[in-house]
Amino acid sequence: MKRILYTISLGLAMVACSSGPQTNNSSVDQRVEDLLAKMTLEEKLGQLNQVSAMDNLEDMAAQIRMGRVGSILNGVGAARINVLQRVAVEETRLGIPILMSRDVIHGYKTIAPIPLGQAASFDLDAVQEAARIAAIEATTDGVRWTFSPMIDIARDARWGRIAEGYGEDTYLTTQMGVATIKGYQGDDLSDPTSIAACAKHFCGYGASEGGRDYNSANIPPRQLLDVYLPPFKAAAKAGAATFMTSFNEIDGVPSTANAYILKTQLRDEWHSDAMVVTDWASSAEMLAHGNCSDRADVAAQSINAGVDMEMVAETFIQNLPDLIKDGRVKMSTVDNAVRNVLRLKFRLGLFDNPYVDENKNVAYSPEFIEKTLKLTTESAILLKNDNKTLPFSSKVKTIALVGPMADAAYEQSGTWTFDGEAEHTITPLKALQSLEGVKVLYEPALTHCRDQKAAGIASAVAKAKQADVVVCVVGEEAIMSGEAHSLADINLYGKQKDLIEALSKTGKPLVTVIMAGRPLTIAKQIEESNALLYMFHPGTTGGTALADLLFGKAVPSGKTPVTFPYMVGQLPIYYNHKNTGRPAAGTELLIDQTPVGAGQTSLGCSSYWLDAGYGPLFPFGYGLSYTTFEYSNVKLSATELKVNDTLKVTFDLANTGEYDATEICQLYVRDLVGSVTRPVKELKGFKRVALKAGEKKQVEFELPISELAFTTLDMQNRVEPGDFKLWVAANSDDNSNEASFTVK
Ligand code: BGC
Repeated sequence: MKRILYTISLGLAMVACSSGPQTNNSSVDQRVEDLLAKMTLEEKLGQLNQVSAMDNLEDMAAQIRMGRVGSILNGVGAARINVLQRVAVEETRLGIPILMSRDVIHGYKTIAPIPLGQAASFDLDAVQEAARIAAIEATTDGVRWTFSPMIDIARDARWGRIAEGYGEDTYLTTQMGVATIKGYQGDDLSDPTSIAACAKHFCGYGASEGGRDYNSANIPPRQLLDVYLPPFKAAAKAGAATFMTSFNEIDGVPSTANAYILKTQLRDEWHSDAMVVTDWASSAEMLAHGNCSDRADVAAQSINAGVDMEMVAETFIQNLPDLIKDGRVKMSTVDNAVRNVLRLKFRLGLFDNPYVDENKNVAYSPEFIEKTLKLTTESAILLKNDNKTLPFSSKVKTIALVGPMADAAYEQSGTWTFDGEAEHTITPLKALQSLEGVKVLYEPALTHCRDQKAAGIASAVAKAKQADVVVCVVGEEAIMSGEAHSLADINLYGKQKDLIEALSKTGKPLVTVIMAGRPLTIAKQIEESNALLYMFHPGTTGGTALADLLFGKAVPSGKTPVTFPYMVGQLPIYYNHKNTGRPAAGTELLIDQTPVGAGQTSLGCSSYWLDAGYGPLFPFGYGLSYTTFEYSNVKLSATELKVNDTLKVTFDLANTGEYDATEICQLYVRDLVGSVTRPVKELKGFKRVALKAGEKKQVEFELPISELAFTTLDMQNRVEPGDFKLWVAANSDDNSNEASFTVK
């Protein structure tokens, strides 16, 4: 039954569906049809072929002249791109321009925090702005298509690519993905500063078993619909110009051959006319998966399932002529794929304006740096701050700055940084050294994060002893997260743990700063540190943001976009889990508290780990500030509502501390009884609220009741009447401000 659901193909041709944010579709469609009518089969197949840039320009030009290139991946530089584009436009029969693409994942030159860090800001405007900056910088180098945003839900931090997405939550990921798409694509794709977005990886890639990259994903149909597909559906609605098929299989069907997601969902349900590209050779990899017998079969299964363009594998260009002759692939299928490619090229304005201005240089403009700094600062999460260790008072004159990430420009930028130059990156060392009146005693102690030599720790301790405070910057090098960089142990590597332990023994106030691509298991380091700031790889402005936060020029506001486990064995762990029939009370005995010879049932029989307990180290949505906030007075506009109603939830938020600051307020809902079991909580809204010290404000959330829909027992998407609880909360574990309502 499940298998049928995934593989069923309605046999519908991919039709050109109306609208996206761009206007003038009818004239675009007419131009597509006129051009298509003139094309030979070879010219059509060339359009479906994406090739990787070759070092030798002449070799590349030769491929273009032969009509074999619809898109180039990774060729950047305005002059270089113009040369190649000129060959396509002036030296091929129909002059069809090439679509130039690049992985611009979290900035092009000015590097923003990795997407997981951006998510920690919960700041949609700033995230949209970051994508806009990336688009402006990338287009000056000729890039018109990026393979971003990655909107895979990731509930397992072993998966290295958790860095590239927005965390574990469907709602947050959806909002972040849409903001990013808007930033890249702007109001009009044909604007020369717009780049086409790519919603990836479609679909379920983040659920790879055991967090090992490229592994199979086991996702039940209802979970696929409720957890993994919604960000993609929203991306389609936001007009994402392209979608990328994922490497993984679900229930035996690799995404590149999955007509259920590529046609039934994308085309029939969501009415998207986006162009679908494979991931890097993900079509040919179906030979290794074992669902294709040869390269011809690869081509037939991929294009028949709904792929338009193949990334580098070239099975289309080699096999489609024969497949069409044999009748295994219809000409109309090829035509539809070509339409989807050409339509995008027209919408990008490539036919009217194929060349890049070679004299424009906007990289690292002060405006971009300032905006990126704001986002980077907002992305930092304060996980501990005992005795107001932070911010540093004016009495702090000497800082021991320690650790392998304190001056590691490339590493702090994180995964997928091809174009941002390290010399533009402000490291913590650079930033702190530029402060007046502060003396910095710098000692990396370890040459890199995986360094196993402990020799440098003694001199770090010596520096610590001479200082007023210690700032220890550790974490993961860029290579330790991202694609193919999964880990089975997500602890701090090398001698970093020893370093922190040794520093903590000095008795000096210890501020640990972690720059990493994933949440790490840091229970011990939390204990040992007086304060701990978590910065998912923060990018170009990371050091400046850190210095501002340390000295109180900025106040932390970021919150965890993903649950932090105590131990790796808790994974996958996420806040919106099901209750189970035996939820833990939280008072269960742990293994060290259990008497020797304890009887079989003496511990009770509830759902927890003997060694790790029940909850995480830090829940989703968690983060401290230098100030304190108080939530009170939750009121609902109604307690009985209908499906078409919108519930208004108001509450008071007071800044009860000494700093002006911003709080990320969250709205969670629980559907108490469903035809199928429902998550214990689901995020349904968030707001960044800025308050002056001592200020109090009324805050409002609007919750359209239609947003409570889910896939019911009979596989329909609808709201089921019944009782609901909601919480206005500082994080997903905060139950102090609760209310109830009923949907009739
Ligand atoms: C990755 C994609 C990326 C593509 C192109 C693949 O290996 O999975 O996310 O966009 O390469 O570089």
